[in-house]
Amino acid sequence: MRHVTKDNITDVFMNYLGPETDPRLKQILKSLVTHLHAFARETNLTHDEWRKGVEFLERAGTISDAERHEFVLLSDVLGLSSLVDMLHSHPQGTSSSVLGPFHITGSPPLPLGGDLRKDFPDQVLLAVGTVRDTDGNPIAGAELDIWQTAPNGLYSSQDPDQDTYSFHGLQVTGEDGRYGFTTVKPVSYTVPSDGPVGDILRASGRHPWRPSHLHYIVKAPGFQTLVTEIFPDDDPYLDQDTVFGVRDDLVMTYVEQPAETFPAEGFALSGKVDGPYLEAAFDLVLVREEGER
Ligand code: BEZ
Ligand code: FE
Repeated sequence: MRHVTKDNITDVFMNYLGPETDPRLKQILKSLVTHLHAFARETNLTHDEWRKGVEFLERAGTISDAERHEFVLLSDVLGLSSLVDMLHSHPQGTSSSVLGPFHITGSPPLPLGGDLRKDFPDQVLLAVGTVRDTDGNPIAGAELDIWQTAPNGLYSSQDPDQDTYSFHGLQVTGEDGRYGFTTVKPVSYTVPSDGPVGDILRASGRHPWRPSHLHYIVKAPGFQTLVTEIFPDDDPYLDQDTVFGVRDDLVMTYVEQPAETFPAEGFALSGKVDGPYLEAAFDLVLVREEGER
């Protein structure tokens, strides 16, 4: 096409695609380029602004490595990761939420009733609940991959003073679908803001904070894997998570309980809790894989 104009360039782009183009790729490219061109027209994007954008992407690429995923972080702070989560969350299952960059594979087994708190002296948090299907039936043998920040606001992979698997554990639900462990309260923390994504946050008057949360990946045969996080309702950042991860159904309440109500058996800390502790009860609902019954 010789006569490419600002009005027909989107159609010209589509005409350039080969006949064998995968239909889904074609659909995605069409929509992406339509919106990209519309964005440039709508904002009357200047050469300088275009160059700044390209330089931003280059810096995001340069800072990225096996541990630093600046493009994922960009998607997170733009709300794209959360939008994709919400588009594919099943209305009857627990909502999914961002994975984040601090999950590590190979977490050690955490027996039912096990303790993640170890030597941290903070108040004990008892996290309990049942993994269920969408009909309310408990799911025995579901695997929970659990991780959280230490009280200093750092995940183990960010903190040379923590062991590799500090505040990480893999727990399998019992016959009654229940999980349960002790830990300490996770704390609010900031997403990495020393790179180009941090520059965007600052330039647009945004803070880098996330409300405190416990991360879970929940897997069970025949069910869709759930990647999620749960948030206490008293966190000051609950309504302004910089990565938009909070959903109504992911909010729980810490209930302070007297020491004598701590389970007398079945927990590593049974018989060892001598002050008020917090309890966070939260059930997780898994959705069956398509075609499973
Ligand atoms: C996290 O929850 O660990 C996280 C999520 C998105 C960006 C940064 C951190
Ligand atoms: Fe996190």
